[in-house]
Amino acid sequence: MRRGLELAALGPVVGDHARVGAVILSPTGDVLAEGWHKGAGTPHAEVDAMAKVDPSLLRGATAVVTLEPCNHTGRTGPCAVALLEAGVARVVYAIDDPGADVHGGADRLRAAGVEVVSGVLADQAEAFLERWLLSVRLGRPWVTVKWASSLDGRAAAADGTSKWITGAAARQHVHEQRAAHDAILVGTGTVLADDPSLTARGDAGELLADQPLPVVLGDRPVPADAAVRQHPRGLVTLSGHDLAAALGALRGHGVHSVFVEGGPTVASALIAAGLVDEYLVYIAPVLIGGPRVALDDLGVGSISGRRRLDVLSTTSLGPDLLVRARPQRAQHQHLQHDQQHAAPGHGDDGPTNDRSTP
Ligand SMILES: NC(=O)c1ccc[n+]([C@@H]2O[C@H](COP(=O)([O-])OP(=O)(O)OC[C@H]3O[C@@H](n4cnc5c(N)ncnc54)[C@H](OP(=O)(O)O)[C@@H]3O)[C@@H](O)[C@H]2O)c1
Repeated sequence: MRRGLELAALGPVVGDHARVGAVILSPTGDVLAEGWHKGAGTPHAEVDAMAKVDPSLLRGATAVVTLEPCNHTGRTGPCAVALLEAGVARVVYAIDDPGADVHGGADRLRAAGVEVVSGVLADQAEAFLERWLLSVRLGRPWVTVKWASSLDGRAAAADGTSKWITGAAARQHVHEQRAAHDAILVGTGTVLADDPSLTARGDAGELLADQPLPVVLGDRPVPADAAVRQHPRGLVTLSGHDLAAALGALRGHGVHSVFVEGGPTVASALIAAGLVDEYLVYIAPVLIGGPRVALDDLGVGSISGRRRLDVLSTTSLGPDLLVRARPQRAQHQHLQHDQQHAAPGHGDDGPTNDRSTP
């Protein structure tokens, strides 16, 4: 299973798919083949691995897979059936598939007489697939909020300018994070103030291979000459201020992770709504002062209501400091519970993509 997780990590980080690895073992425990999922529409990991083995050797073999084999005909056939037809005798997997329409593979295999073992290295597999699992379970993408601020917590100068608070190393790190998310989201305020391109770029300004889908949230129109309109993925605009509906709409279009780059209004609204899963805060050793703070009202009226975070890491990036943090689990679950019971309206117009639907 450890090898299966290594193989899973070879799959693409972004896209509408789970990253899964598989190892096929002979009845005596020899490795016959390895496979992994290479993206939506391509064979699942166990089928990829089985395709590399002489079919006669699969009779009585063991398949080790990091996610429960699917029971669903989508862009590919059900893996449970492929394993049965191959004559595999034993299936070992790490975590159940939470998808309502795809789970049940283990039951199908058991019913057909295959020995099935689940839960092997489940914690590691759960951590590895956390973004995808959250998006399937909650019906919204994983949300990472990023901001860059001065040491005194300012995100812009008094005139609204914020390019650049941090240095080159921090900005390059941001570009890598953009490429590692399915979508990048900002409010109309940031588009109007900064005219960002929302592309993921390398050191020399070249476009990276993975480009996040650019999403702008809010009612004000994006200007016809805005840089984001030149984005290679095409611009998605989401009108209205209903964050849960906006995230749900993105999830409906195959987005599993969103990188939120502000501004302070949209970031604060997401935090207040309990919709943030991770924070990346880039702190520069400069002082700006004034009114342009990185966050505005979070609905914290008294210190007892402060939002508690766990710091996962602190990293020096040139002169700047990156703090990676997550909401403390208990408080986050409480907020998510409130969110689910707030019965949000679905009053937005849904995504409109200036080129095509995402
Ligand atoms: N340092 C940094 O990391 C960083 C990052 C980004 C921006 N900035 C700076 O931040 C400033 C812009 O700040 P901003 O707060 O105006 O930008 P923003 O958060 O990008 O945009 C705010 C706008 O988003 C729309 N919106 C969508 N959903 C909303 C909701 N649920 N609640 C409230 N508003 C919602 C509203 O616009 P509509 O009226 O159009 O509906 C609102 O006015 C600029 O000075 C920029 O340079 C700094």
